[in-house]
Amino acid sequence: MKINLSNIKKAKYFLDNEDCIAVPTETVYGLAANAYSNKATSKIFKLKKRPKRNPLIVHYHSLCDLKKDCHINKKFLNLYKKFCPGPISFVLKLKKNSLISNNVTNHKKTLAVRFPKHPVIRKLLSNLDYPLAAPSANVSNKISPVSKADVKDEFGNQIRYILDGGRSNIGLESTIINLIGKPEILRFGALPSEQLKKILRLRKKKTAKNIKIPVPGQNKLHYSPGIPLRLNVTKPRPNEASLLIKKKFSSHKFNFYLSKNGNLKEVAKNLYSKLRLIKKKKFKSIAVEKIPNNGIGEAINDRLRKASKFK
Ligand code: TXA
Ligand code: MG
Repeated sequence: MKINLSNIKKAKYFLDNEDCIAVPTETVYGLAANAYSNKATSKIFKLKKRPKRNPLIVHYHSLCDLKKDCHINKKFLNLYKKFCPGPISFVLKLKKNSLISNNVTNHKKTLAVRFPKHPVIRKLLSNLDYPLAAPSANVSNKISPVSKADVKDEFGNQIRYILDGGRSNIGLESTIINLIGKPEILRFGALPSEQLKKILRLRKKKTAKNIKIPVPGQNKLHYSPGIPLRLNVTKPRPNEASLLIKKKFSSHKFNFYLSKNGNLKEVAKNLYSKLRLIKKKKFKSIAVEKIPNNGIGEAINDRLRKASKFK
């Protein structure tokens, strides 16, 4: 994709002035602000209606920048070399002299960090003197945006600027791995856990009851289109929107396809925009067919399970 430098300049102008703006990443769009500024990061929480106790992921351009804020270890370097820039976030120990705002960490000693791959945010980061704190650019608990139009949908005129980077290529949030102590996956995401398990001897994600480091955004209803959603449905009800992963004969009236042929990467890429579309079309509920749990299917099922908590 061709990078529009005057847009990068505009984005930098707002960020340098401690405003928060939307930025594209390969996973989903983020609501970004200077991670070193209390004023700028507090705007993220306000706009998203996000509880203060829910910490933010910080986006870096280079390892050199990261080292100013975090302690790194061998396991991190190993994963960094294989997967970065890319759709993986790491929870690391924060350095005592780090300038990261307390808003970002909720006064804790850990920091979630990520090196996004999208060329537009990489270009932007390379022009800034600070890293960017950026949660997904949606109102808390709603569906993450995968385009400029989705961000507008979420925030309308409340947001000062949206840096356009086209449609997010992956469409699901990053995988989060805790690298303090024994590695542990805290959120399934765009990088399939099988790939991580090959490199690290990983424990399975713990259940909410005995999880050590809570991931505040992961414990409740999340990723919700705001209408009831049923899983593993073989026979949708007459007025339901039916969400399918491949084209097939069906006598049901309202079918929405996530892929023509069940390609799970395509399913992931289309998931949030189809949920958004179904909500816009004023359906009262959604029936989703069973989705295989391999590869990125694991993260797709995780998101759908959380969305299905809406009653
Ligand atoms: O793909 C992504 O990760 C996107 C793009 C914009 O980079 N960002 C994203 O951020 O999904 P957010 O805030 O929507 O989700 C981040 C999750 C939250 O559930 C938060 O609780 C958790 O990461 N988190 C942040 N800092 C943490 C920390 N220090 N320890 C454990 N969990 C943390
Ligand atoms: Mg989010």
